[in-house]
Amino acid sequence: MKVLITGGCGYIGSHTAVRLLESGEEVVIIDNLINSKIDVLDKIKEITGKNITFYQEDLCNLEELRKIFKKEKFDAVIHFAGLKAVGESVEIPLRYYQNNLVSTMNILSCMQEFNVLKLVFSSSATVYGSPKSLPILEDFPLSTTNPYGTTKLMIEQILTDVYKANNKLDITILRYFNPIGAHKSGLLGEDPNGIPNNLMPYIVKVATKQLPVLNIFGSDYDTIDGTGVRDYIHVMDLAEGHILALKNKKKGLKIYNLGTGKGTSVLELVNMFSKINNVKVNYKIVDRRPGDIASCYASSLKANKELGFTCKYTLEDMCKDSYNFVKKNSNL
Ligand code: WQD
Repeated sequence: MKVLITGGCGYIGSHTAVRLLESGEEVVIIDNLINSKIDVLDKIKEITGKNITFYQEDLCNLEELRKIFKKEKFDAVIHFAGLKAVGESVEIPLRYYQNNLVSTMNILSCMQEFNVLKLVFSSSATVYGSPKSLPILEDFPLSTTNPYGTTKLMIEQILTDVYKANNKLDITILRYFNPIGAHKSGLLGEDPNGIPNNLMPYIVKVATKQLPVLNIFGSDYDTIDGTGVRDYIHVMDLAEGHILALKNKKKGLKIYNLGTGKGTSVLELVNMFSKINNVKVNYKIVDRRPGDIASCYASSLKANKELGFTCKYTLEDMCKDSYNFVKKNSNL
């Protein structure tokens, strides 16, 4: 199968590319490199020994995208590409709507024109807003509190309508919880430019003394220790979920949560990270971050039943692999 991975030089995309190549599939990546680095292609080759066809292109450029679809004749698309910083989306909402929606509509119109029927879409647990109960099931009410999350919700609606108009399409929506960790080799991982928005990249920067202290946003939530609880899933387990989604024989429009089903608090993760890596992480408790919810974790029973999805990596693996990646990729 020849698979297009949009945003394939990014964190989850690159790990998925590795697993696809290892499964014997052919991979083509389109990435505009605004949030990723081209040397990821060399890392993927070093891990798998395989080449990838790469186009540095903006998915919002329909004419260029059509030329690639015409030339490559894809069998499937995994669509990761998109702007994804919650805070930034509040500051520049138009940029988020324009980029995330137009790029997706361009992908869909090229799929229609060149008769590509299979799509796996990278959605997010953020579409659940503040859940009514836990664990979260796929049929829970959807609501969003920031433009980034709203673009994901809008794209899910677009996919639903496009499927209704053409039920030969085979669409899988994957709602990720909190991806962390890195490839065991230490060649691939998450290393955002500048000050990280997310918890694990921030912990790693404090542990490696690139940042002085971790601010823990609130300790007065109704959780085990007052700090926010999330469902952290190893990026390699997440990548595997995409392989299973591609190979899924069930046709139609399908939606799955990809999480571990376990909630971990900020303090639990920080303490686990310190213990596993034998490194101190300086932190201080500060005010809550606006828009944060107390707890969020998945039920992935549906993915387990229909895709055979299971999580193989532990929280210890996630902490070890995250630290290993940054230690190997910064001159520390
Ligand atoms: C996790 C916990 C924070 C940073 C976001 C997006 C979601 C997805 C994953 C894209 C919370 C706390 C964090 C820090 C902290 N992204 N925290 N200090 O907010 O659950 O989800 O990223 O799809 O869509 O919404 O992840 O890592 O930002 O926060 O105390 O410096 O860590 O309050 O409890 P979040 P996060």
